[in-house]
Amino acid sequence: MPPTIGVVGGGQLARMLLPSAARLGLPLVFLARPGDAVGAVWPAVLSGEPDADGLRRLAARVDVVTVEHELVDLDTMQTLQDAGTPVRPSAATLAIATDKVRQREVLAAAGVPVAPWTLAGDLDAIGAFGDVHGWPLVLKRPRGGYDGRGVWVVDDLDAARTVLDEVDGDPLLVEPKVTLTGELAVLVARRPGGETVVYDPVETVQVDAMCREVLQPPRVPAAVAARARELAALVADAIGSVGMLSVELFVSGEQVLLNELAARPHNAGHLTIEGTVTSQFENHLRAVADLPLGSPASRGPAVMVNVVGGPVDPQQRLAETLAAEPAVAVHLYGKDHRPGRKLGHVTATGDDLETVRGRALRAADRLTAPAEEASS
Ligand SMILES: Nc1ncnc2c1ncn2[C@@H]1O[C@H](COP(=O)(O)OP(=O)(O)O)[C@@H](O)[C@H]1O
Ligand SMILES: [Mg+2]
Repeated sequence: MPPTIGVVGGGQLARMLLPSAARLGLPLVFLARPGDAVGAVWPAVLSGEPDADGLRRLAARVDVVTVEHELVDLDTMQTLQDAGTPVRPSAATLAIATDKVRQREVLAAAGVPVAPWTLAGDLDAIGAFGDVHGWPLVLKRPRGGYDGRGVWVVDDLDAARTVLDEVDGDPLLVEPKVTLTGELAVLVARRPGGETVVYDPVETVQVDAMCREVLQPPRVPAAVAARARELAALVADAIGSVGMLSVELFVSGEQVLLNELAARPHNAGHLTIEGTVTSQFENHLRAVADLPLGSPASRGPAVMVNVVGGPVDPQQRLAETLAAEPAVAVHLYGKDHRPGRKLGHVTATGDDLETVRGRALRAADRLTAPAEEASS
């Protein structure tokens, strides 16, 4: 019998696990809040918070627990694991993957290159770091940030003071602003015994620190892509990940540096649904259920563009977009429309990267712009 998998979280990542679960016959139970994206389309939802109470209720119902987001009570995850419920990824892996400072400590020690950094709780420490490494600096909340929330680029001490005020003096991760020639993500699926498959690197394009596009294959030299794969495999082993891991990397000329990790299916991997032999969602479930992993091989050029809330609700633009772009895969998450919020994504595939990219960008524009603008 396949194990029943408990998933902490009910957002779009949870929803995108469903087709793979249905195909493989893997029962899923989600721990989600009322109104989360998964509730509208799936009956097996426990209503609750990802706290001690919620996690215990979930564990009582399932054979193995995994996560769809990072804001999980890790002490309880550890307690459940100690009491015999498999937690995949483990509480120890999650403790690293959810903390940008721990990531740097653990992975630099394992030989992964990272930009210079420090943890600073006051203006003097930030200023001293800037004197040594040069401005501008990037300040980050060590935990809980996403989509660029919790990341600030500061040109001088005045700007740094404003950020420190905003975070009430919480210690911040400080880095120089790296001169980027590109950004990559490498997805790695890993089973409990260590069997691993590494996807080909994809290129991510950020606008205002939020992911806008993901491109397969990446527009980087082959040696850079090879180095990225090598580093991602090293990272997966170093933190003992189980399930999907997304390793975000900075490219600066020939240099490849670690940016951050996510130990779960990730936005950088959405194009694996149409663009690879086995999607990240399917390989996440296979790994968590300790089943043989599927091939990560690319099916050819693919581009994903996020659908971010603008002046109109993309759901209202669905019919027109489907009519105009019949070859594009449209994914809407069923979330309430709010400007700046990720509400869906589109993926285009084909033979030529720039053609595919144009098609995906057009479809995303059509979903987010008022009718007269999009059709002109
Ligand atoms: N040190 C840095 N130098 C240059 N750009 C950076 C730096 N840190 C972050 N960024 C930019 O901000 C984006 C978001 O930062 P990241 O730490 O990945 O935050 P999030 O958790 O919101 O994804 C990165 O993808 C990159 O484009
Ligand atoms: Mg990031």
